[in-house]
Amino acid sequence: MGSVEIKPNIFWVGAIDWAVRDFHGYVTPNGTSYNNYLILDKHVTLVDTVKHDFFEYTIDKVRALVDPAKIENIVINHIENDHMSSIDRFMELTPNATIYITERGKKGLDRFFDTSKWKFQIVKTGHTLSTGSKTITFLETPMLHWPDSMMSYVKEDRLLISQDAFGQHLASTSRFDDEYCDQYSVTELEHAVRDYYANILMPFGTLVKNKIAEIQKLGLEIDMIAPDHGIIWRKSAGKILQMYLDMANDKADLRVLIVYDTMWHSTEHMSIPLADGIRSTGIDVEVMKLRATPMSRAIKRVWESRAFLVGTPTLNNIMFPSVAEFLQHLKGLRPKNRLAGAFGSFGWGGGAVKEAYGVFKQMGLETVEPGVEVLYRPSAEDDKRCFEFGRLFGQKTIEFHKKFDGELAGSCSPRF
Ligand code: FEO
Repeated sequence: MGSVEIKPNIFWVGAIDWAVRDFHGYVTPNGTSYNNYLILDKHVTLVDTVKHDFFEYTIDKVRALVDPAKIENIVINHIENDHMSSIDRFMELTPNATIYITERGKKGLDRFFDTSKWKFQIVKTGHTLSTGSKTITFLETPMLHWPDSMMSYVKEDRLLISQDAFGQHLASTSRFDDEYCDQYSVTELEHAVRDYYANILMPFGTLVKNKIAEIQKLGLEIDMIAPDHGIIWRKSAGKILQMYLDMANDKADLRVLIVYDTMWHSTEHMSIPLADGIRSTGIDVEVMKLRATPMSRAIKRVWESRAFLVGTPTLNNIMFPSVAEFLQHLKGLRPKNRLAGAFGSFGWGGGAVKEAYGVFKQMGLETVEPGVEVLYRPSAEDDKRCFEFGRLFGQKTIEFHKKFDGELAGSCSPRF
């Protein structure tokens, strides 16, 4: 696939990675793309480089448009390796280019490369770069999602080049949202956005809200958002901004996710009457076995659900390892405004359910206690206890959800 002109004289020159299935532990069943952009103007400017393995893909696209030696400016919005690990190869071809980067970005780049011969311009929010007929304004976005992160706004084209924000891990020959929606399910694109947000941006909801408010305060008019991964938003730039605000405001669907693991099926068995009890309150419930599910999928479904129940057998007086690993991931992502509970079976002595509630407390989550524990194998009486706890948990979820959305309606309707 060749370059694509996304605005007059601004070209996508990125690479599509159809094969990647593991992105630092995050499953990417749909692959991804590494987007970067070339501005052909009086002062030729490249915004972001590309993952090292894909350098040839990008440089071929650049060469088809301009001699790389004519690139005068390289903007590095973010120094994670998938976007800057080919900067040394670009600098071999463009030794006189000036790199525009944040102060933290420069410090980070110094740890990866010998930068002593490269020219830098350190930028802060509000600083600008004129490419001739176009003006790039820089907007620092620290911790969205790295300390060095920033975005680049091209005023004349109302174009926000947003680095990872608003991206999706999605490989496609479509470059734009309206093209993608013509060919595939709109819901798939929305799911890719949520997947990305849940696994990468979940901890930074407050920063997302503040940054969108800052963009609005600066009066930046935006009619296209070009992220570093996936589809470019030209039809739905306003909608994707609103979707990010909704996610940052902890919107969730009125659903309970039961996520469990099991040794000899007792904890698994408990999930059935629990789900029936929840369902008896009229709300949706989904059951997910951890060892059969990629971690990032489980994380996404927790994020999309207002409440979750964790099922764990007790092994050596503590949680089952896969459940402990899942909660460790979740703790790092700092979910907020989700209701939690736990259940599980034990043999000699319990402990796992209590430990799970301890982790919920560390995460600052509201809980429904004490959960349900079963000795060895659930009896008919235990099934009734599970059903009743499920019903209680469903009722509490409905009450909890009302606090955030006012109405019982979920927030999962497709937007694109
Ligand atoms: Fe796509 Fe944070 O790198």
